[in-house]
Amino acid sequence: MLNREIINWYEFNKRDLPWRNTTDPYKIWISEIMLQQTQVVTVVDYYYRFINRFPTIKDLAFADENEVLNLWQGLGYYSRARNLHQAAKSVVADYNGVFPDSFEEILKLKGIGVYTASAIAAFAFHLPHAAVDGNVNRVLSRIYGVSESTNSPNGKRVFQSLAEELMSDAPPHIYNQAIIEFGALQCTPKNPSCDSCPLQVQCFAYINKQQDAFPVKKKK
Ligand code: ADE
Ligand code: SF4
Repeated sequence: MLNREIINWYEFNKRDLPWRNTTDPYKIWISEIMLQQTQVVTVVDYYYRFINRFPTIKDLAFADENEVLNLWQGLGYYSRARNLHQAAKSVVADYNGVFPDSFEEILKLKGIGVYTASAIAAFAFHLPHAAVDGNVNRVLSRIYGVSESTNSPNGKRVFQSLAEELMSDAPPHIYNQAIIEFGALQCTPKNPSCDSCPLQVQCFAYINKQQDAFPVKKKK
């Protein structure tokens, strides 16, 4: 089973990252928003500073906007911080400060799209949603030889269902971290480490020497 091999790879190769040691949806949310446009090594420090200053979603909701933006300084894309603050306020207003525990409710929060809602649902609540980011698209497209573009409406459907099929009955919180980490460390955008890859014999791109042909992206 491919998902078992990716999970097995993960257990041997994973980095110890702070948001992997919690099931607090608030902390997972903060980390996933930071990780959207910023590298892991940079995010770690910002993540600690942010959750030390605002340990709970209520602390964030009642904070001064300027202080939130100050903590964001250097990460860029300040709309992310403003959306976080607004969403925290609405969780306090609408859910008494308790982070909603269904995918549909999470998806309604400001600044949270399908990827982030899936990540929170899987990592915090262990719900069977696949969090499909650029790493996951790359891994899936190479293994299965998917020539559908990752950014077209149909491509998004194709990759989402491939990712969910591959998850099968694996624990969602482990499977999702595993395939994201596999893409980040092993099946990298340039020069993937195919020589040491446990999936070689099953990988379309490897077998056909077409690693660089995947993922396919349609010009916008
Ligand atoms: N990039 C996006 N989500 C991530 C996660 N949970 N761990 C590492 N890198 C990520
Ligand atoms: Fe990625 Fe290479 Fe492994 Fe295929 S063989 S999954 S392209 S690292």
